[in-house]
Amino acid sequence: MKYESQKVAYWFFATCMLLLSLQLVYGFIMAFAHAGYDVLHPWVPFNAARASHNNLLVMWLLAGFMGAAYYIIPDECERPLYWPKLAYVQLIAFVIVGVTAIIGFHFNWWEGRKFLEIPRPLDYLVVVDVLLFVVNIGMTVWKGSKMTTTSIVLFFGLLMAAVLYLPGMIPTDHQTHDAFWRWWVVHLWVEGVWELIMGGILAYLLIRLTGVDREIVEKWLYVIVGFTFLSGILGTGHHYYFIGTPNYWLWIGGIFSALEPLAFLGMAIYGLALARKGGRNHPNRIALFWTVGCCVMSFVGAGFLGMAHTLPQVNLYTHGTLVTAMHGHMAFWGAYAMLVLAIMTYALPQLTGRKLFDTPSAIYAFWSTNIGMTAMTVAFGIAGVAQVYLERRAGMEFLDVQRELQVHFIGLILAATLFTSGIIAFIYNFIRYGWPVGDVEEPVPTGLRAAVPAE
Ligand code: HEM
Ligand code: HEM
Ligand SMILES: [Fe+2]
Repeated sequence: MKYESQKVAYWFFATCMLLLSLQLVYGFIMAFAHAGYDVLHPWVPFNAARASHNNLLVMWLLAGFMGAAYYIIPDECERPLYWPKLAYVQLIAFVIVGVTAIIGFHFNWWEGRKFLEIPRPLDYLVVVDVLLFVVNIGMTVWKGSKMTTTSIVLFFGLLMAAVLYLPGMIPTDHQTHDAFWRWWVVHLWVEGVWELIMGGILAYLLIRLTGVDREIVEKWLYVIVGFTFLSGILGTGHHYYFIGTPNYWLWIGGIFSALEPLAFLGMAIYGLALARKGGRNHPNRIALFWTVGCCVMSFVGAGFLGMAHTLPQVNLYTHGTLVTAMHGHMAFWGAYAMLVLAIMTYALPQLTGRKLFDTPSAIYAFWSTNIGMTAMTVAFGIAGVAQVYLERRAGMEFLDVQRELQVHFIGLILAATLFTSGIIAFIYNFIRYGWPVGDVEEPVPTGLRAAVPAE
């Protein structure tokens, strides 16, 4: 760690761990409800659990992105954070707004639009909070002594993510218009600007972990940004097939969204190629696991499983079923959860001065979460395909079908238990790292650079 002010990243990462743990609790509540054991229903009905599960996910990922930016931007721009104190205020405000929203869901205070359930008054606070973050990062980039492609892409991704929160707040009482704007947020986030954030963080990690030249890594970054915009913007059309929007979206959405996996394929090839080229001799091997794992699993979850239901001919049957949940889990896990866990695994030794890489718990966390999530994806997938056949081909009633599917959720619970054991191992390692300290040397890839450059 070069600058004392980067320490704030630790607190964002600790927040991630707390929110992630809570997210999993709601996951289990829903999985048991699906399996026929909805015992908590009077206190936590399914809709409250689902809104909490989804919003906690988005919150911990955003906290992770912010922490990553507070860590990476000073390093890339070679100057301390512009307003370190503001970063702490902004974190506390973020947590207060988030926790208020989650409590609100349990008292039916919500907007009922998947992923954008946060009530409107809290939306304004989210906007102010994120603006403070963007200004802090923007000023650090602006005043820094270096402007790298990596930091520009990361900053632009964060700025656009903030701007794209706004379409979800456009007032309308027309359901089609409401759905239309909702996708500007949800789709253009995960299949647009969040990919820039991902590209920026991955480029930073790959430069540091593989020792490959910055020029080579950043050239790839341009290609990926290009593919993302080319396909992702009009790819929004894959959500406009059946919501009351004009028919031309069937063509536009089908064609452009079918191109989207290319950006994720590019990322997978990029990660694997750079890891091979740079040799694998950075001491923090497990951080490279998470980084390359993120490149590969995002292709599986977003690229491959997204493609599986993106054509209108297929989506006509799978729309809004558990097939969507199958893809949603693996895509969010591979692309964004693994990304946040990768930057945490890389930054923690530098933030705390302890080199706990390659401990058995760190290795167990990587493999059991990934195997567990793959098994969860399979369970959702089988349940989803069964649902499509029974409900949409055989014409059975929705609730009768749900009863037929209960058994698949026993499988889901088993897989989720394995996954959760890995998350517990990750958190255990996180706690063992202890508190952040100032001024810690960066472990460099052996054989790639002779010595740590003097700060
Ligand atoms: C203990 C682990 C978990 C369990 C048991 C679990 C279970 C569930 C269940 C039962 C649903 C509701 C499906 C429905 O709508 O009927 C759901 C939704 C969702 N979960 Fe999880 N989950 C877990 C962890 C995660 C993780 C780690 C992520 C992200 C990385 C995630 C992302 C999502 C998303 C995005 C949705 C909404 C899916 C959709 O739009 O259809 N979950 N989860
Ligand atoms: C990291 C990137 C991605 C993430 C995190 C992600 C996550 C999700 C989630 C959570 C949903 C459910 C949203 C909702 O109903 O509100 C969804 C829907 C969908 N995704 Fe993705 N996705 C990603 C990339 C992709 C890609 C690249 C494709 C296509 C190639 C794709 C195709 C779809 C389609 C067609 C739906 C609509 C499903 C339906 O009709 O119910 N996704 N995605
Ligand atoms: Fe989409």
